[in-house]
Amino acid sequence: MSTTSPFPVPQYLAKLSFDGLREWFSSQPTSVLLSLAQTVCANTYGNKVYLRGLIEFSNHCFCDCLYCGIRHSNHKVERYTLSEEEIIAIVQRGIARGLKTFVLQSGENRQDLPETMSRLLRRLRRFANEDIAFTLSCGVYPREVYREWKKAGANRYLLRFETSDEDLFSHLCPGKSLSRRLQAIEDLKIEGYAVGSGFMVGLPGETLDTRIQNVFLCRELQLEMVGIGPFLPHPDTPLASHHSLPIEETVRMTALLRLLLPWANIPATTAAGSLHPRGREMMLEAGANVLMPNLTPTEKKRHYLLYANKICLDEDGWECLSCLSLRVASIGKSLSFAKGESLLREEKR
Ligand code: 5AD
Ligand code: FES
Repeated sequence: MSTTSPFPVPQYLAKLSFDGLREWFSSQPTSVLLSLAQTVCANTYGNKVYLRGLIEFSNHCFCDCLYCGIRHSNHKVERYTLSEEEIIAIVQRGIARGLKTFVLQSGENRQDLPETMSRLLRRLRRFANEDIAFTLSCGVYPREVYREWKKAGANRYLLRFETSDEDLFSHLCPGKSLSRRLQAIEDLKIEGYAVGSGFMVGLPGETLDTRIQNVFLCRELQLEMVGIGPFLPHPDTPLASHHSLPIEETVRMTALLRLLLPWANIPATTAAGSLHPRGREMMLEAGANVLMPNLTPTEKKRHYLLYANKICLDEDGWECLSCLSLRVASIGKSLSFAKGESLLREEKR
């Protein structure tokens, strides 16, 4: 372990080239990866697991990504958008329960969003002081739009790059390009957001090399948050007949992320919990330190199915909070209601 770095990254790993890292990673049993990642995570975040309340406020989407259940061409989806009043009520209830971060997520490319989101954020900021963080996850928009949203009260932004393989990206997301997405990530950083990105594990057409490149890209982008999860086929998409990789692959990638980005906030994702009953716990044991209870009203949740077999559809977010607290206790961790900035941001202060 380094004594000079503010983060205890095993230095030999931080310096490895792509080939060196691939060789090292491939030769490590999962148990070794887990114990290294656990140590790094415990050194940076203790046994705390931060909470983010997720609100899937609209499933309208004008993109047609091959993997995604709410893609524009899926006419079976019943489309909805929560009203401002509904969103405000959820946030108020969340604040009363002690939550300090809310993630507002929707489909992509909505023409009306620049204005409606600014108005919503202003209304939220009337009662939510700076102890409360708003994270947006609404896709690619022009930099000026990100600037307006930031002025209106947003703090953080999640925009996964999905895969670092440009050709695979263009194939999976028709009409879009990886370079435009990376530009948006840069724009968000310039506008002062805490930026999160990430990728799916096991997309049809990717290889282990792609996955390691994905982790390298996360580090190159100096992400404050990294969300990853297994690809899960949705029956009403062109990728319906493909399969997920075993959960172990997501767990191994989580550990590698924690080792190379010790400062990052890494959620144990719902997708992992949907692939395996202990998927989220397994990610937490591999270095993840965030959970995102889904606060979307239960009658709307089942219309926001990015993939099949999504968990927690019948439970409301408040039930999930109690469930999560038992789940983290089962692995010797505890939920934290703190705002939970990434350590990179804390360091910059
Ligand atoms: N399987 C797993 N994750 C998916 N996402 C979208 N579709 C799927 C799927 N079929 C992920 C993408 C997106 C995030 C909100 O959900 O990575 O960025
Ligand atoms: Fe939702 Fe357990 S976390 S029911």
